[in-house]
Amino acid sequence: MDILKINNLFASYGDKEVLKDLSMNIKKNKITAIIGPSGCGKSTLLTALNLMIEENGGNFAGEILFKDKDILSYEKNDIRRMIGIVFQKPTPFPFSIYKNLTYAPIYYGTKDKKELNNIVKATLKEAGLFHEINEDLNMLATKLSGGQQQRLCIARALTVKPEVLLLDEPCSALDIKNTQNIEEMLLKFSQDYTIIIVTHNLAQAKRISDYTAFILDGELIEYEETEEMFTNPKDRRTKEYIEGIYG
Ligand SMILES: Nc1ncnc2c1ncn2[C@@H]1O[C@H](COP(=O)(O)OP(=O)(O)OP(=O)(O)O)[C@@H](O)[C@H]1O
Ligand SMILES: [Mg+2]
Repeated sequence: MDILKINNLFASYGDKEVLKDLSMNIKKNKITAIIGPSGCGKSTLLTALNLMIEENGGNFAGEILFKDKDILSYEKNDIRRMIGIVFQKPTPFPFSIYKNLTYAPIYYGTKDKKELNNIVKATLKEAGLFHEINEDLNMLATKLSGGQQQRLCIARALTVKPEVLLLDEPCSALDIKNTQNIEEMLLKFSQDYTIIIVTHNLAQAKRISDYTAFILDGELIEYEETEEMFTNPKDRRTKEYIEGIYG
């Protein structure tokens, strides 16, 4: 099933056109990697998908369907809850771990203390952090290591049970061990979530994604099963990019 359908998407900031007539469908419960050189519009695409683009001073034309309904027909808050986003740089709130993980559920109306505790516990487990920090939920989140902070940010995105998780280069500030932790976690997640991950790391796209989309200068050049894309790219530009000729 295609959880997101993107039809003829154009995106711009003022008169700068960034995405040009991009159409692609995103498969539910799969990992889709978005690759392409710096500035080609990857982050812009992610922010269009959860309507954050307007907050960044941009706008889009074309159609985005989420579960076959126009994304603009949903409440913005509901879209942000159902389509979570995690950025490149870990951005924990400067509060305790506990408060980081209860912030969004409280915002969305969960009041029961026991339920909040359960959410904290479950998402820490999902993010593989439970055993590392269980003892110290009152610890300031910004005191965690970089890799732990990023896993906390992913856990935080999970606290409101999103259906889609948008990850914008979540590992680029992390070392190999932390990257491995996150990759293992994402592979497990795909049973419950649809993941769209922007990555500069082609080996990472190969390791974890089911589908890969290659964007160049705002245009979708090729979108294929990952295995096929990396072994048998159809477009010369894809071939050149994955062979490291530019980007
Ligand atoms: N808030 C903004 N206001 C104006 N222009 C922007 C804004 N955000 C991005 N752009 C421009 O849009 C283009 C695409 O940017 P975007 O951040 O989507 O690229 P990207 O593929 O994510 O790049 P990178 O790999 O470096 O993160 C760039 O030319 C960038 O300068
Ligand atoms: Mg980006």
